[in-house]
Amino acid sequence: MKNEFVFINEVGPRDGLQNQDVHLSKEERLQIIDSLEEANLPGIEVASFVSPKIIPQMKGAKFIVQNLKKSNCDYSVLVPNLQGYQEAKKAGAKTVSVVPAATEQMNQNNINMSLDQSIQVACEIISLGKREQIKTRAYIAVAWECPYEGKVNENHVLKIADQLIEAGAEELILADTIGAANPESVKSLISKVIDRYPIQISAHFHDTRALALVNVWSALNCGVRKFDSCIGGLGGCPFAPGASGNLATEDIVSMLHQSGYTTNIKEDKLMKAVKDVSKVLNYEIGGRMTKWLNKKIINN
Ligand code: COA
Ligand code: ZN
Repeated sequence: MKNEFVFINEVGPRDGLQNQDVHLSKEERLQIIDSLEEANLPGIEVASFVSPKIIPQMKGAKFIVQNLKKSNCDYSVLVPNLQGYQEAKKAGAKTVSVVPAATEQMNQNNINMSLDQSIQVACEIISLGKREQIKTRAYIAVAWECPYEGKVNENHVLKIADQLIEAGAEELILADTIGAANPESVKSLISKVIDRYPIQISAHFHDTRALALVNVWSALNCGVRKFDSCIGGLGGCPFAPGASGNLATEDIVSMLHQSGYTTNIKEDKLMKAVKDVSKVLNYEIGGRMTKWLNKKIINN
C-alpha cells in the first residue's frame, strides 16, 4: 500500500459554488481554478453547462473552459442534457460528466427528466462522446439514498450502471448526493461494482452525517483509487434537500497522506486556496481538519 497513488478530483468550482448565496464572477472562479492547479490537483470539475436561469452561479462556463491553462490537469464539466454537451464541445471541453440520478423524483427535480429519459440521454451523450473523442464520466446520483424516495436498491443501481457502461462510459462515479451512506452500505455496493466492471470506479461523498471520510476508507478497502472532494467542504445539490457540504479536499488529502498514500497534492498550497476561497465568499470555509492543518503548516 505504501505510496500508492489516489486520484483526487476537485469539484469545488462546480459542486462547491453552485449553491452559494454569493455568485462569483467567471474571473473569480477561474482564479480559484488557478489556485487549485497550483496545489497540483490532478482533476478539477471546472463548471457546468446548465440553465443560467436555474443555476445562475454557473454562468460563464464557456469563458471558463476557454481560459483554462493548458496543463496536464483533467478538467471536466457537468452536462445535464444534449444541449449542454453540444455547448461544452463547442467551448472545447475534453471531458464531460453526465449526471443521471438513480430515482424518478430526483431526476424530475434536478434535470426535469424521467428516470428512463435521464439514462437514455446520458447514454446518448456517452456514445456521442466516444465518436467525438470526448471523454465521459458517468455519475449515478443518489446511488445510496434519495431525499424523495428513500433508500435505493443496489440491483437497481447496477442495472443503471450496466446501461451507462454498455454505452461506453469510461468512468463510473457513485454519488452519495445527500450524505446518507455508511461504511457498510458503501462496502456492499462498491464491492459489487468493482467486481462487475473493468473501468475506473470512483466515489463522491457528502459529509452530512460526518461519515464521508470513513466512507472513503471503506471504498479504499474495496479497491477504489479515485474520489471527488471539494475545497473547504463546500457544496451540495440545490435539488437535494438536507444535503450538506461535500467531503473537504483538505480532509481527504490529509487522511490519505497520513495513511501512507500519495496524491501529489501540495497541502500548503491547498490551504492557501481554502483561504482564498473564504476571502471571495466572505465567510470562513474549511473541513474538519482545517484548524489543525493550518497550525501544522505554520509550524513547518
Ligand atoms: N444549458 C443552458 N441552457 C439550457 C440547457 C443547458 N444545458 N438546456 C436547456 N437550456 C435552456 C433552453 O435553451 C431553453 O431556454 P429558453 O427558455 O431561453 O428558450 C430552456 O433552458 C428550456 O429548455 P428545456 O430543454 O425545456 O430545459 P428544461 O427546462 O427541461 O431544463 C435543464 C433542463 C437540465 C437545463 C435544467 O433543469 C437545469 O439546468 N438543471 C440544473 C441541474 C443542476 O445543475 N443540478 C445540480 C448539479 S447535478
Ligand atoms: Zn455533490
